[in-house]
Amino acid sequence: MLKIGMIGAGFVAGFHERALCSVRDVELAGVCAPKGAEALAKRAQADGLGNTRVFKNIAELCAAVDVVCIFAPNFARLEIMRNIAKALEGGAKIKGIICEKPLARNIQEADVMTKMAKALGVPTAYFENQIHMPSVVEAQRQLAAVEQSMGSVHLARSAEEHGGPHEPWFWNPTKQGGGVCCDMGCHSIAVGMYMLTPSGKPPDYLTPVSVTANMALLKWGKEPWISQLKKRGVDYTATPAEDYSNVTIEFKDPETGICSVAQATNSWMYDAPGLRLLMEAFGPGYSYTVNSLESPTGLFISDAAATAVADSELAIEKAQASRGALLLHHNEPDLYGYIAEWRDVISAFEQGKNALLDFEYGRLITMLVMAAYMAHEKKKTIDLTNSTVLAELESYVPLIQQGKGAEVLLGV
Ligand SMILES: NC(=O)c1ccc[n+]([C@@H]2O[C@H](COP(=O)([O-])OP(=O)(O)OC[C@H]3O[C@@H](n4cnc5c(N)ncnc54)[C@H](O)[C@@H]3O)[C@@H](O)[C@H]2O)c1
Repeated sequence: MLKIGMIGAGFVAGFHERALCSVRDVELAGVCAPKGAEALAKRAQADGLGNTRVFKNIAELCAAVDVVCIFAPNFARLEIMRNIAKALEGGAKIKGIICEKPLARNIQEADVMTKMAKALGVPTAYFENQIHMPSVVEAQRQLAAVEQSMGSVHLARSAEEHGGPHEPWFWNPTKQGGGVCCDMGCHSIAVGMYMLTPSGKPPDYLTPVSVTANMALLKWGKEPWISQLKKRGVDYTATPAEDYSNVTIEFKDPETGICSVAQATNSWMYDAPGLRLLMEAFGPGYSYTVNSLESPTGLFISDAAATAVADSELAIEKAQASRGALLLHHNEPDLYGYIAEWRDVISAFEQGKNALLDFEYGRLITMLVMAAYMAHEKKKTIDLTNSTVLAELESYVPLIQQGKGAEVLLGV
């Protein structure tokens, strides 16, 4: 029985608590967060996830659990990692550290995360749920024999879109790392690369060759949206970020030399029923598609009944309406891959190994996201086979992340 300890008790921690209800041999033993810890612990206890306790600091949490999860905002990653390291130096023993996406806001921070984990000698997991989505994994399994005879996928399109994040810190590029490309581009880039990877090969198998990108502030820089953000404490006149991002990455198979392309599109202006994940993979003579907004379950709520709706987000993540024809997903933690990523990490940590996706993989995704910002900023293709460019990326902090988005964003 692995004892899980969560640092952060907000939106994603809540999703993981739901996912853990479908995972064996785990107990949610502890939660530590400035906000939401009591409520999360109470829910976990009610769900039978164990005697979930609230811890007032990371040192005490680490001393009481086997696995520590970093489910806090992006700007708090390094401070949390340092506190975990102190706890381990103080005698706490853990079997693994999990970090939610993105691993870091830039490569310098990602390097600190990976180097610290290495120095601690603790197995790691980078949580990128989309690579574990049962629809994607099963489509690949079903097509493995076809892929074997025809060749692997040569074009992958991936998108994650919704109407905009729930908490103000996500909108602040200096805190979050950017706009939608840092927040959700990391998902779509990772899953796009995964869809192109020949079956049986590790997730970091393909060699990234080049990156091009376009980003813009299309919706949230205009009225009435910009004023709505201001009321939530977000000032897009001073520190704007991109609400639209379109990234194209070219990869090469290191064994065959065959090229493939991933297109990742993300936006915070998807005014539709709720969050949509869209994946399309095209191989020679075959393809598969995933659209998370297709559900077997539909709901209808009339105007007369709409006042009785408790919480439309109970039906689907980032739901934008509470009446009319709506859709419901009965098991979002499964649909989005959270349950499968937990099963993978539990099995890996029990064996003293890294999960399928580890911190090094998270660093690779950070590098691709940074290359996308650089491509947009410089208005040119970034050549990832050039050692000078790679060296420049190591210390690169995008202008948008520096709070200078007005210099580079169309629509500001
Ligand atoms: N996999 C996904 O699809 C997905 C979805 C949402 C969020 N995320 C990631 O999860 C992380 C958290 O996002 P969220 O939506 O839960 O945010 P949130 O704002 O809803 O919750 C953040 C939680 O962290 C706590 N916190 C804040 N500062 C802290 C600190 N210094 N130390 C410890 N705890 C602190 C807050 O009190 C709160 O409990 C982010 O990195 C985000 O990118 C991933």
